[in-house]
Amino acid sequence: MGAGIAQVFAVGGCQVRITDNDADTLKALNRKIQQSLEAMSQASFISATEAKEACNRIIPMPELPGTLHDVQLVTECIVEKLPAKQEMFAQLERFAPVHAVLASNTSSLSLSEIGRHVKDKSRLIITHYFNPAQILPTVEVVASPATSAVVVDRVCRLLVSVGKVPIVLHKEIAGFIVNRIQAAMVREALFLLEQGITTADELDRAVRGSMGARLAVLGPFQVMDWGGLDIWAEVIRNLFPKLSAQREVPSIVDEKVSQGHLGAKSGRGFYEWSQTAVADSAKLLQQQLMHVASAIGSDKCLGPATLGGECEE
Ligand SMILES: NC(=O)c1ccc[n+]([C@@H]2O[C@H](COP(=O)([O-])OP(=O)(O)OC[C@H]3O[C@@H](n4cnc5c(N)ncnc54)[C@H](O)[C@@H]3O)[C@@H](O)[C@H]2O)c1
Repeated sequence: MGAGIAQVFAVGGCQVRITDNDADTLKALNRKIQQSLEAMSQASFISATEAKEACNRIIPMPELPGTLHDVQLVTECIVEKLPAKQEMFAQLERFAPVHAVLASNTSSLSLSEIGRHVKDKSRLIITHYFNPAQILPTVEVVASPATSAVVVDRVCRLLVSVGKVPIVLHKEIAGFIVNRIQAAMVREALFLLEQGITTADELDRAVRGSMGARLAVLGPFQVMDWGGLDIWAEVIRNLFPKLSAQREVPSIVDEKVSQGHLGAKSGRGFYEWSQTAVADSAKLLQQQLMHVASAIGSDKCLGPATLGGECEE
């Protein structure tokens, strides 16, 4: 995820430094970023020159203190483990300049917990990107009660300047907005599969060709307004009591995990994945998402920032 976020700012005109505590990963990141930027230029979302310039703006650094020298924004993107993030934020406070905003890309941890050992909590914030971060425009922005309003404003301005669409939550909540909506959908999808109503492939095709395509242009509340709230009131009355209210991991998922069927990364999940299929699908996915991002008019993240080189990370 860190590679994608680095590209967002580099394409947006910022100087970016990246680090990782695993030297081999850090080396591989450079190649990964270069390939991703090349793919964007091949799809004509950025020019070859822009891709090259963005690549040159990203400097890998072996040590954390050097990475943090004179930065304005730090985006932490390490493993989703609370003790590791707490330790990381204590180090960020020690080594980053006092004016730097300290952001986490956590998907599920609370900002107050992550920043427990940080003295100045006013500079802490969550910026939650969606994979692939270099393409999808939305960034959920979550502040804790201790976060300063100036920091929220600064982060949102910076995100807008690199073509992102920041959505600021009014309160902290587990899963933020999008992952809660996605989890609700996944719960019902698993229920329909377990009940033998459909297969995984049939359900995926049904959803992609209907609400999936529509969701790129209409959010849930727009869908309700277009459908008519009187109609939706009836749908809700008839359907809500019949929807899954499952609170445990469904056995179909538990069984697959215990058998090592983890999805594309292990060769089998709900589908069979050959290595070629994974490579081809990853490429196609990136291309198709670029088309979607472009079609919905939020593809500024794929071109130069409106503020040009003014935003130095
Ligand atoms: N993968 C996603 O789709 C996604 C989406 C949104 C948010 N996130 C969040 O982003 C974060 C990273 O997720 P990911 O999927 O990129 O994980 P990942 O495991 O692919 O990458 C984490 C990287 O952090 C490095 N690392 C671990 N501890 C470190 C430390 N102490 N110092 C420096 N580097 C360290 C690891 O070597 C690894 O390269 C998590 O908090 C995750 O919840 C991920």
